[in-house]
Amino acid sequence: MKVLIIGSGGREHALCWKIGKSKKISNIFCAPGNGGTQQIAENIDIAPNDIDELLKFALDKSIDLTIVGPEDPLAKGIVDRFEEKGLRIFGVNRESAQLESSKIYAKGFMEKHGIPTAKYRRYHDIEEAIEGLNQFRYPLVIKADGLCLGKGVVICETREMALKTLQAMMEDRIFGAAGENIIIEEFLEGVEASLLCFVSRGRLIPMESARDYKQIYEGDKGPNTGGVGCFSPNEHFDEGLEAIIEDEILSRIEIGLQQEGLDYSGVLFIGLMLTEQGPKVLEFNVRFGDPETQVLIPRLEGDLVNIIQKTLDGNLKRDDLNWTDKVCLTVVATSKGYPGEYEKGKEIDGLDELGRDIIVFHNGTKLKNGKLYTDGGRVISITTLGKSLQEARNNIYDKVDGIHFDGIYFRRDIGKI
Ligand code: AMP
Ligand code: GLY
Repeated sequence: MKVLIIGSGGREHALCWKIGKSKKISNIFCAPGNGGTQQIAENIDIAPNDIDELLKFALDKSIDLTIVGPEDPLAKGIVDRFEEKGLRIFGVNRESAQLESSKIYAKGFMEKHGIPTAKYRRYHDIEEAIEGLNQFRYPLVIKADGLCLGKGVVICETREMALKTLQAMMEDRIFGAAGENIIIEEFLEGVEASLLCFVSRGRLIPMESARDYKQIYEGDKGPNTGGVGCFSPNEHFDEGLEAIIEDEILSRIEIGLQQEGLDYSGVLFIGLMLTEQGPKVLEFNVRFGDPETQVLIPRLEGDLVNIIQKTLDGNLKRDDLNWTDKVCLTVVATSKGYPGEYEKGKEIDGLDELGRDIIVFHNGTKLKNGKLYTDGGRVISITTLGKSLQEARNNIYDKVDGIHFDGIYFRRDIGKI
């Protein structure tokens, strides 16, 4: 089989790594990929949003299966386009992608189907939004409706900050059309958890839980990022919590998908806040997470190609997913300045001496004349499996200081609980 993976992050490298272990595979292409995927697959210089070129490539090369990493091409309808041409593609169609591409759509879906989430109001007019601030206590959360590369959510401690945020999103249009409509939302207190599910003909088959670290600095300080560390399983998950999530969230999502007539097939990533009142949904993503994929994929036993094929055929069962009991932890090394401005092109050293316990998934790297250089804000995900969270932490933090590039920064408290 020939497989095409779309995207260029740690998520896509982890998918390439796992797919490469399948006996069914003859070739893996990654568009555009990175310095990590280049070592195990063939990188193709086509951007994830260039659906015409991707389609042409898949047809020319007779690709048997395409797997979509990022949300943008999904929201632009890549799955619909590939399917029109009879190509097999793993990802959600354009209509279902609204669960991520419009926060207003997602909140409406949750409200209508009784899925627990934060109280909210939606606004199109800035004067009304300013008036609406009075309905909430501080801190409150302001969210741009559309896709903003993970930057469209602002937690406002004060009215002054809320006014500034509304001004920036709705008047100065810092996110363009994505901020035309906004949501003001109640701030939820608790522990975050990520729960990804394979969705096979509208049925949700949950993967193992994970915990993502969103903030750049230790102690969860500083601005939000795409995620700079992660581990699985999330230490708060137990049978009791799983039963509640099953009843109040997963089964209601399944009913919602059916009632809305959404032909959902692919992955649904449920961002949860575990509050004192129970688990509540913060957001939906219609794809694998990054860095969640880097800690889920090493724990997944068996052939990922089989799992994806069964999902697409509508007959994936819970028994098809088996996980090692080990804990998987990843620490993302970033470029100085991220999530703000940062430089690229710094030579990376020390990856060859890490030993067999460590898997390095590349987020933003480039291979040039056999040397590896930084090529993004998130650079590499340093990953390991351990018998316990502590063992995994020790494995990683014993080794990471051997990795060097100019401006390297990573949190030292990932998995410290
Ligand atoms: P989202 O893209 O909606 O998941 O938001 C990004 C991050 O903002 C989440 O992972 C949370 O850390 C935080 N967040 C979003 N909504 C809320 C909320 N209602 N209360 C507290 N934190 C939130
Ligand atoms: N780690 C969160 C995301 O993939 O959006």
